[in-house]
Parts: sequence; structure tokens; C-alpha cells
Amino acid sequence: MSAFTVVLSKTGVTLEVPEEKSLLEVFEENNIPVGYSCRSGTCGTCGVRVISGEIEHYDEVMQPWEQAQNKLMMSCVSRCKGELVLDL
Ligand code: FES
Repeated sequence: MSAFTVVLSKTGVTLEVPEEKSLLEVFEENNIPVGYSCRSGTCGTCGVRVISGEIEHYDEVMQPWEQAQNKLMMSCVSRCKGELVLDL
């Protein structure tokens, strides 16, 4: 897993997601409220809306066509190549 940068478009906050942490863990460390349940990519609770970024989907809850739309990602498992911009 490689590190990536996430930009939260509504607040202008930029965060680094290191290779050993999930996006959800970085949200938690920075008190950004995103709900979760399974933490393993199977429930859909931690989904966040994507504005831009090349998402690497590792969840097992979205259909392949949903993943291909690049509009939603599961923050507990999925990652991004390069910069990610979220509707948060
Ligand atoms: S917490 Fe269940 S899919 Fe992320």
C-alpha cells in the first residue's frame, strides 16, 4: 500500500495517509466524523463521496460498476493513487 494525500473540499483540510494506515484511521486521528462498522470493506458504512482521484477499491460491498464510477469509496480499506479529493 502506498501513501497518498487527501483533500477535504468542504473544509480545505489536506491530510497525508501513510502506507501503514487506512483513510478511516486518518479521519479518526483528525476528529473527522465518518461512520463505520465492519472496518473490513463489507458493510458500506464508511463510504465517502469522491470528487477526484484514481481510487484503488479493496472493498467487497460495491458492485464492479459502482467501483468503476469512481464516485464512492470505502474509507476503511480503499486507497488512492496520488491525490484524492473528497466531498467532505
Ligand atoms: S466500515 Fe464497513 S465497509 Fe468500511
